[in-house]
Amino acid sequence: MKEQNASARIQELLGRMTLQEKIGQLNQQNICAYADNVEEIKQEIREGKIGSLLFSGSAIPENGGTEAFDLDFTRELQAAAMESRLQIPLLLGRDVIHGFETVFPIPLMMAASFDDRLIEECYSALAQEAGNAGVRWAFAPMLDLSRDPRWGRVIEGPGEDPLLGSRYAASAVRGFQGDSPAQEGRLLACAKHFIGYGASEGGRDYHHTEISNYALQNQYLPAFRAAVRAGVGSVMASFNELSGQPVTGSRRLLTEVLRDQLGFDGFVVSDWGGVEQLEAQGIAENGADCARLALQAGVDMDMADQCFARHLEAEVKAGRVAMEELDRAVERVLQAKLRAGLFRQPVRDAVKTDRAKHRALARRIAGESMVLLKNEQSLLPLSKKGRVALTGCMAQNRESLMGAWTPDGDADSVITLEEGIRAVAPELELFTESSPLFGDMTAVMEQADTVILALGESARASGEFHCLADISLPEDQAALALRARRLGKKVVGLLCFGRPIALGDTLSLFDAILYTGHAGCEAGRAAAELLFGDRNPSGHLAMTLPRSVGQLPLYYNAAPSGRPVNGYYTECRNYIDESGAPLYPFGYGLSYTSFQVEKAELEQETLSLSELAAGKQAVVHIRVTNTGERDGDTVLQLYLRDPAASLTRPLRELKAYERRTLPAGETADFVFRLGMEELGYYLPDGTLTLEKGEIRLFAGFDAWAEKCVRLQII
Ligand code: BGC
Repeated sequence: MKEQNASARIQELLGRMTLQEKIGQLNQQNICAYADNVEEIKQEIREGKIGSLLFSGSAIPENGGTEAFDLDFTRELQAAAMESRLQIPLLLGRDVIHGFETVFPIPLMMAASFDDRLIEECYSALAQEAGNAGVRWAFAPMLDLSRDPRWGRVIEGPGEDPLLGSRYAASAVRGFQGDSPAQEGRLLACAKHFIGYGASEGGRDYHHTEISNYALQNQYLPAFRAAVRAGVGSVMASFNELSGQPVTGSRRLLTEVLRDQLGFDGFVVSDWGGVEQLEAQGIAENGADCARLALQAGVDMDMADQCFARHLEAEVKAGRVAMEELDRAVERVLQAKLRAGLFRQPVRDAVKTDRAKHRALARRIAGESMVLLKNEQSLLPLSKKGRVALTGCMAQNRESLMGAWTPDGDADSVITLEEGIRAVAPELELFTESSPLFGDMTAVMEQADTVILALGESARASGEFHCLADISLPEDQAALALRARRLGKKVVGLLCFGRPIALGDTLSLFDAILYTGHAGCEAGRAAAELLFGDRNPSGHLAMTLPRSVGQLPLYYNAAPSGRPVNGYYTECRNYIDESGAPLYPFGYGLSYTSFQVEKAELEQETLSLSELAAGKQAVVHIRVTNTGERDGDTVLQLYLRDPAASLTRPLRELKAYERRTLPAGETADFVFRLGMEELGYYLPDGTLTLEKGEIRLFAGFDAWAEKCVRLQII
């Protein structure tokens, strides 16, 4: 529909709506197909009291999967909406985080592939599958920059880096929405949680966050800026209180920053119960205050708590909420419904999906995202004809390999590590045991030369409200590694943890480590292909791996210190009892081959501010050689360091990256272009700035990249 017609249609509708019907459009309620209240909810829909439904009884993993729905059920619901006076269709939402029928790796691992195109394809596949079940709105991507792996929700987002997060955001939004969320097989996306939720103090979920405006602009907002630029249709307000303001009640954040600065023009939904929660968060005295504050701050739709439905009518009638304020929110919601094609097609028929293709995507991205951390004496890849023992709590596990937030995934469809290994290396002599932690594994291990330990954590140890105070390798799992070590075996650790863990001294128990994460339905096969050399590892960490919990938060793009204690880059001791350096830095990942940056050059070593402001870019040519004997994918990364700016800039900032396949022995040229936005930084008020002086650019394969070129900005 042409824009003019669309807005005329909305104005016409708005003109006919009663106050109650308007408030109804802002009311989102949860529904479950087999709950007792389905008829009651349908009746409310007919009365125009509900504008949106979510199939998401609880985000807590233990309750996952209880919100049954399918295309027929969504048909029934839309039919009820068509019986309402104004026949406004419902917007039906669901948490489609990293899996539907096909379960992809958790987002933290998908990001570790550094493969924008592939990530986009995965989200397109999810859009199709979820769309076929009647979902028209996905509560994803989750874009919370996070630096503390104790926080269970680190697994839901792309990690600690603003650029990686931004490119992930754009890929996911494009994947979900395509050219238009109204098209077949597409959905409306929702960038969440706006903003700062990932900074929950101490990694404790729902906790206070303290973020300066400077950090907000340069660290936390970029991924949302990218989502907005990619045209994301909705944004979810976050639960957290940020520097004195709960976000759900913050006009500064939801309107001045999100809309006025970032240019977002879609609608904002609160998080589950976020509106009502303003009272407990200490800025509202009662429900009416909560509803008024949230609406006036910029929340357009109220998720699940019905606080708008209970209080807005009285607030409007008493003149505390202006009709224009209400109308603005209603307009945005109607606009989104139009954009999602709901007026034209409240229910779409299922499109033909190629599940085999989706599984192939899942396998490819799982393979691209697993990170080879250690490989002493090139133990990996293993021979397919050796004697190998496989044990550890994840060896036969299916459910946890899917990761948290997969209520629509089917654990039976997951390929276990044992199955993967048997399929990839059928001639292997494989010794295994199904209840490893309770039996004595000595007998199993003794038969083999190499022991593969499938270690990890339950999917229920991460996700919402599932934080850990201790993220070191669990004692029983370390004991298993020690036992293998003492038997004189070569030890391969597969780390099937959702979050990054702190291996500390247990690192030395392993000859080789493949960090698989919760890798989804093809986890077992993807890991086996890497272990036995059918594929070459190429994932790179999306989050720093700390040595110990006491170092947290630990991230690569820290501000410089006046003293030589920026341990991230040196072995110097920040603590009396611990190094300041991580175990492995952001961006790190080994391969079975080796890559070398031969040369890095700038096309022009001097550029003026005015040229850059007019759109000129610094062009860096980097020559990389695959110096090993195998073909492989490299992820070349370019980091920036601005040694003297008006505000301190981080020790390193990732500014460009590219994944590319390089045959053994071959050399390739990479070209990165950095404009004003990449070279400059945001002032606390949101203005992009770039100053004269030297900029150093470092090319390499992780945050410790060393090959340096210098750009003079005059
Ligand atoms: C989570 C959101 C989620 C919502 C709906 C909340 O508890 O924070 O991320 O989208 O529930 O399930």
